[in-house]
Amino acid sequence: MKKANSLKTKSPADSAVIMTELVLPQHTNALGTIFGGTVMSWIDIAGAISAGKYARCSVVTASIDALHFIAPIKLGHAVQLKACVNLTGKSSMEVGVRVDSENLITGERFHNVSAYLTFVALGSDGKPREVHPLEPKTEAEKRRYKSAIKRRASRVALAKDIKNEDH
Ligand SMILES: CC(C)(COP(=O)(O)OP(=O)(O)OC[C@H]1O[C@@H](n2cnc3c(N)ncnc32)[C@H](O)[C@@H]1OP(=O)(O)O)[C@@H](O)C(=O)NCCC(=O)NCCS
Repeated sequence: MKKANSLKTKSPADSAVIMTELVLPQHTNALGTIFGGTVMSWIDIAGAISAGKYARCSVVTASIDALHFIAPIKLGHAVQLKACVNLTGKSSMEVGVRVDSENLITGERFHNVSAYLTFVALGSDGKPREVHPLEPKTEAEKRRYKSAIKRRASRVALAKDIKNEDH
């Protein structure tokens, strides 16, 4: 018989992270907009903090879903990254990260990217370990949880395919 997870449930709010960055000249290309890789790095950091806050142990990035940059982020703009856990498996957590930027002079705000990452919690032996089951509470949390279930199914299928191709 499968052993039930004995850990207490937690809510997405337990993993909520808000990270703010300022776009400096070293972050930009010749067009004065940010390098995609810089945003990806910030997304990975915000996601890892959120997963680590939730699991309270070491976590590693297992995968990052396709990223779509909807609008450019410009030099001098403030960038806000909001992250929280949407869904948990046995040892994995899907974290959603929303990236918005703000023109500090005009107050105009832009939604730039939404990203979904999977982190895996590791025990002191470096192996995957159980995480607290997630209990979404608000309507928005329940909606994100439902969409995350669909994304997880296609991710698991893809990960299996990749493993099989390697062997
Ligand atoms: C991620 C990692 C720990 C998974 O280890 P593994 O031995 O394949 O573990 P398992 O097959 O038992 O899978 C463990 C969990 O990871 C999930 N997982 C594994 N590969 C995944 C992938 N590519 N995408 C999403 N989830 C994945 C599994 O679905 C499983 O989830 P569950 O426990 O919630 O059911 C391992 O592949 C690893 O260490 N990768 C390198 C991570 C890294 O260096 N990241 C960058 C720097 S942080």
